[in-house]
Amino acid sequence: MEILHAVDLTPFNTFHVKASAAHLARFRTVEELRALLSRPELQGVPLLVLGGGSNVLFTRDWPGVVLLNEIAGMEVLEETGGHVLVRAGAGEVWHNFVMHCVDRGWGGIENLSLIPGRVGAAPMQNIGAYGVEVKDCFHHLEALRLSDGAVVRFNAEQCRFGYRESFFKREGKGQYIILTVAFMLSKNPVPDTHYGSIRQELERRGITAPGISDVSDAVIAIRRSKLPDPAVLGNAGSFFKNPVVSAEQAARILAAHPDAAHYPAGDDQVKFAAGWLIEQAGWKGFREGNIGVHKDQALVLVNYGGGSGSEVYALSTRVLESVKEKFGVEMEREVNIV
Ligand code: FAD
Ligand code: EPU
Repeated sequence: MEILHAVDLTPFNTFHVKASAAHLARFRTVEELRALLSRPELQGVPLLVLGGGSNVLFTRDWPGVVLLNEIAGMEVLEETGGHVLVRAGAGEVWHNFVMHCVDRGWGGIENLSLIPGRVGAAPMQNIGAYGVEVKDCFHHLEALRLSDGAVVRFNAEQCRFGYRESFFKREGKGQYIILTVAFMLSKNPVPDTHYGSIRQELERRGITAPGISDVSDAVIAIRRSKLPDPAVLGNAGSFFKNPVVSAEQAARILAAHPDAAHYPAGDDQVKFAAGWLIEQAGWKGFREGNIGVHKDQALVLVNYGGGSGSEVYALSTRVLESVKEKFGVEMEREVNIV
């Protein structure tokens, strides 16, 4: 495998910010990965695995090696009357895997259609959209443990999934390279249409008894109408998480701002829509130089072209501070900062 040096990372991140990597290499199998990791020129250098680069912000050059995960393959591991256990290589494009399953009538991940990125990153932040999260039909994953090169298996519990969180984003950060991910999908799926905008889109289309492909089509249409296409405008989706606060704090916020968009989040907790908070703090459509806050979705920070990662990061800090000042709510970044 070829190791490239002093590589421009602009094409490898959907924010399209400029940064360079001291080294870059691709791997298609665990054997190739192991061979790369044993190369003398990579000993002791920091590693960064990238899939589609759709959830990272480079604020500096990467001093070590960027490894592009290109492990391919989709296969059925087990099949019963009602379920199918399907495994995909971490380098498969997530949406292609979703379409592969939808086309075969295997239900469970159709609400996650058109999320950018690769399969291997899906468990990293337990990707979610339109009422479903990866954890809902995740079965297991296999990952290379960097400390000893062993391939280890994680079940859902061991992944410690949370809202846009997992073991791999927290305690296990930088210690594992995810190789394959397996999902338990239903052969008799009951589409999940509880999310309001899916129901509205299906109604608009006159569909009263939707199947999983109808749900997938509806989600694709909603996403295209709401979120900027990174091929056209640099972004990494939601830059922040929707903040979850105690019921007590929620009551105080709602007394002052009765129209704040919010949802119950279990056990005396309430989730507020960060997009609403950021919009109310006056940021929606804000632009300074080449970066800004998207004009239709305030949760998305954008690079109009030529903006730097540190400018985007500095803007995110200003947004966090102003939401804290106006609402007393501490938000968190969702995007992985490098
Ligand atoms: P990358 O950006 O390449 O990597 C993300 C992180 O995972 C990095 O820290 C990287 O080091 C690590 N990583 C990647 N692959 C591996 C691996 N194989 N092993 C170990 N670590 C790894 N997310 C949602 O949850 N819901 C959405 O609705 C959503 N919508 C989006 C819309 C747009 C327009 C965009 C641009 C992004 C959106 N995202 C959404 C965020 C993003 O698509 C997901 O987080 C996706 O899973 C990232 O995949 P990736 O391959 O691009 O990861
Ligand atoms: N809103 C505003 N102003 C805005 C944006 C949103 O008032 O500028 C309000 C909307 O009117 C709505 C509420 O906020 O009442 C929620 O908005 P939306 O349905 O667009 O969803 P979101 O909470 O902004 C989340 C996820 C998305 C996911 C969608 C659909 C997070 C951080 N973001 O966005 O995920 O696609 O729901 O399920 O949870 C991502 O993680 O990158 C991502 C795009």
